[in-house]
Amino acid sequence: MQTYLRLLRYLKPYWGRLIAAALCSAAVAGLTGAYAWLVRPALDEIFINKNTTWLMLLPIALMAVSVLKGMASYGQTYLMVYVGTRVVTDIRQQLFGHLMRLPVGFHLKNPSSRMMSRVINDVNWIQSAVSGVLKDLFQQSLTFVVLLGVLIYQNWLLTLFSIVVVPLSVYPMMRFGKRLRLIATTGQERTADMSLALQETLTGIRIVKGFTRESAEDRRFTRFNEAYFRTWMKSTQISAITSPVLEAVGIIGMAGIIWYGGSQVINGTMTPGTFFSFLTAVFLMYTPIKRVASANNTIQQAVSAAERVFMVLDVPTEAEIDTGVRELQGVRDGIELRRVTFQYDGTEAVALHDISLSVRAGEVLALVGSSGAGKTSLVNLIPRFYDPTGGAILIDGVDLRDIRLSALRQKIGIVSQETLLFDDTVRNNIAYGRDQATAEAVADAATAAFAHELSCVFRMGTRRSSARTASSSRGANGSVSPLPARSCAIPRF
Ligand SMILES: Nc1ncnc2c1ncn2[C@@H]1O[C@H](COP(=O)(O)OP(=O)(O)OP(=O)(O)O)[C@@H](O)[C@H]1O
Ligand SMILES: [Mg+2]
Repeated sequence: MQTYLRLLRYLKPYWGRLIAAALCSAAVAGLTGAYAWLVRPALDEIFINKNTTWLMLLPIALMAVSVLKGMASYGQTYLMVYVGTRVVTDIRQQLFGHLMRLPVGFHLKNPSSRMMSRVINDVNWIQSAVSGVLKDLFQQSLTFVVLLGVLIYQNWLLTLFSIVVVPLSVYPMMRFGKRLRLIATTGQERTADMSLALQETLTGIRIVKGFTRESAEDRRFTRFNEAYFRTWMKSTQISAITSPVLEAVGIIGMAGIIWYGGSQVINGTMTPGTFFSFLTAVFLMYTPIKRVASANNTIQQAVSAAERVFMVLDVPTEAEIDTGVRELQGVRDGIELRRVTFQYDGTEAVALHDISLSVRAGEVLALVGSSGAGKTSLVNLIPRFYDPTGGAILIDGVDLRDIRLSALRQKIGIVSQETLLFDDTVRNNIAYGRDQATAEAVADAATAAFAHELSCVFRMGTRRSSARTASSSRGANGSVSPLPARSCAIPRF
C-alpha cells in the first residue's frame, strides 16, 4: 500500500492531464452505455412500431455517438499513456542518476546485470502497469458502472439474475491470473539468465575462443534458452485455456438470460427492445470485467517491481552520507597516510594493515607488491572509493573525510588497469571528465599515449566531424601508417 502511494506521488506534476484524461474516460464510459441504450428504440420503435422519425434519428444518433466516443477514446488513451510513460521516464532517470551516485561498495555487492534489470525490466513492469491501469482500471470500471446502470434501468430483476454470473467468471480469471503471474516471474528470471550468459560470453569472447569453449557455451546457452521456451509455453497453455473457460461461463449466463428474459418477452412483461438492449449491455460488460480482473495481476506485478526499484532509491548516495564540507584547491604539501588500516566489508582478513607513508607534492610514487598485496586497495582509498577502517589519509594535513567528496575527486586523475571506452567518439573518450578540453589538448593527450595513430578508429567513429578535428590537427602527419582497410570493414552496429 505504501509502495502504491509512493508511486502515486509521481503522478502529482501531471494532475492537469490526468483530470483531462479522466473526463475523456467518463465520456467513453457514458457513450458505451449510450450504445446499449440505443438498442431499445432501434428494436421497439423501428422494427416493431415502424416509427419513421426514429428511423431518421437513430442512424444519426449512432454515428454521433461513435464519433464522440472515438474522440474521447483517443484523448483518454493518449493522455493516460502520456502520464504513465512520463512517470516511468522520471523514475528511470531518477534511478539511473541514483545508481551512479551510490558508493563503489554498493556496486561491488550488487552485480551490474542485476542493476540493469532494475533499470530496464522492473521499470518496464511499472510502465505497463501504470499506463495500463490508468487507462483500463479507471475507464473500464466506469464503463462497468454505466452499463450496470443501463441494465438496472432496463430490468432490475433480470439484472440481479445475471449479476450472479459475474463472480462465476471472475473466479477463474483470478485463478489463472495468479498462475500466470508466477510464470511471468519465472520467465523474467529465465530472461535474466539468458542475458547474463550472453553478456559473459560476449565480454569474455577472447577467453571463450582461447579455450575453444564455443560448444560448451553453446550448450550453456541452450539450457537457458530452452528453459525460457518451456516457461513461455506453460504461460501460453494457461492463457489459451482462459478464454474458452470464460466463454463457457459467459454462455451459461447468457443461456440463463435468454431463458428468463425470453419468457418475459413472450409473456409481454418486457419488450424485445428492452431485452436486446439488456443483452447488448451484458455483452459490452464482458471487456470491463475482464480488464479489471486482469488489472489486479498487473498491479501486483508492478507493485513488487516498484518495491525493488524503491529499495535501490532508498540506499543513500555518496553525497548524502558525505560529511565533508571543505573545498580543495590542489595539493600544496603532499598526501599522507597515517596508520591506515582497511578491511573490505564482509571479509575476515584486512587488506591493508597499519600503513603509514607520505608523498610530497610533485613526487612520483610506485607501489610494488605481489598480487593481492593491496596496491589497488590503497589507491582506491585516495579518491575515497572506500574509507579506511582505521587511521586517516590527509591532504596538506586535512583529513580526506573533511573535504567535500566531489571537490576531492575533481582534483584526481585516474588511469585504471582495465580500459573502458564509452560508446562515443575517440575525442570524447579522451576528453572524458574535461568537457572544456580543446582539440589541441585532446590531440596532445592522444600523442602522449601513442594513440594518435589509431586513424582507423578515428575514421570508424560514428561522429565523424569531431574525429576529423582531432586527426587534422595532429594525425596524418606522414609517419602514420593506416591500418589495412580490411580491419575497418567489420560492420559496426
Ligand atoms: N572487493 C573486494 N572485496 C573483498 N576483498 C577484496 C576486494 N578486493 C580486493 N580484496 C582483497 O584485498 C586484498 C588486496 O587486494 P588488492 O586488489 O588491493 O591487491 P593488488 O595488490 O592490487 O593485487 P593485483 O596486483 O592483483 O592487482 C586481497 O587479499 C584481496 O583478496
Ligand atoms: Mg590491483
